[in-house]
Amino acid sequence: MASNNVHPNLTACEGISQTLFTEEELRIRVAELGAEITRDFAGLDLTVVAMLKGPVVFVCDLVRRIDLPLRMDFISISKFRKEGRASGIRILKDLDCDVAGRHLLLVEDIIDTGLTTNYLIKNMQPRNPESLSVCTLLDRRSIRIIDVPVRYRGFEVDQDYVVGYGLDCTERYRALPFIAKLSHRPTQAPAE
Ligand code: IMP
Ligand code: MG
Repeated sequence: MASNNVHPNLTACEGISQTLFTEEELRIRVAELGAEITRDFAGLDLTVVAMLKGPVVFVCDLVRRIDLPLRMDFISISKFRKEGRASGIRILKDLDCDVAGRHLLLVEDIIDTGLTTNYLIKNMQPRNPESLSVCTLLDRRSIRIIDVPVRYRGFEVDQDYVVGYGLDCTERYRALPFIAKLSHRPTQAPAE
C-alpha cells in the first residue's frame, strides 16, 4: 500500500472523465442479479461461462451472489481485423467442461454491436446445452447490429466508452473497482 494511503489503482486513473457506477452501486446491482438468477435456476444444473478477460471481475462477484451449486468455465477468443474492420473470430482457449444437457449462463461485461455475444451463442448451441441465457453487466443497445437475447442486464449505457471493473482500454483500467467514462475514445479496437 502506498504510504500516502492512495488506492494503488487510482494511480492508473489518468484519462478518466467521470465515474458512471460506483463500487457501491455495482455491489447492489450484482447482488440483485445474483438473487434473480438464484430464483430462476433453483434445482437446475447451472454452468456459468465467461469470456476472458473483460467479464472476469463481474463474474467473480456475481457467482458469489448466486446461492446455488454451479460450475464456472472460461473461453477466450481473438478477433481479427483487416483494414480496420472486423473480419473473423477464433477460439484461443475453449471451455473445459462438456455443457451438453446443462443450463448455461453466458456472462458478458458489455454488449455493444452484439457480434461477440452472437458468435458465442452460435458456438455454444451445437454443444446442446439444456438452455442458454445471457447475463450482461452493461448493455449499449443503441448501436446493436445483431439482436441478441439478453435475459439479465445490469445497466444500460450510452455511447461513451467505459472502463473499470474488468473493462479495459488497451489493457489498462481493468482493476479499477468502479466504472468510469473515458475522456477519449480508444483508437484501437478494444481487447476482450
Ligand atoms: P460487441 O461485439 O460489439 O458487442 O463488443 C463487445 C466487446 O467489446 C465487449 O466484450 C468488450 O470487450 C468490448 N467493448 C465494447 N464497448 C466497450 C467499452 O465501452 N469499454 C470497454 N470495452 C468495450
Ligand atoms: Mg475488452
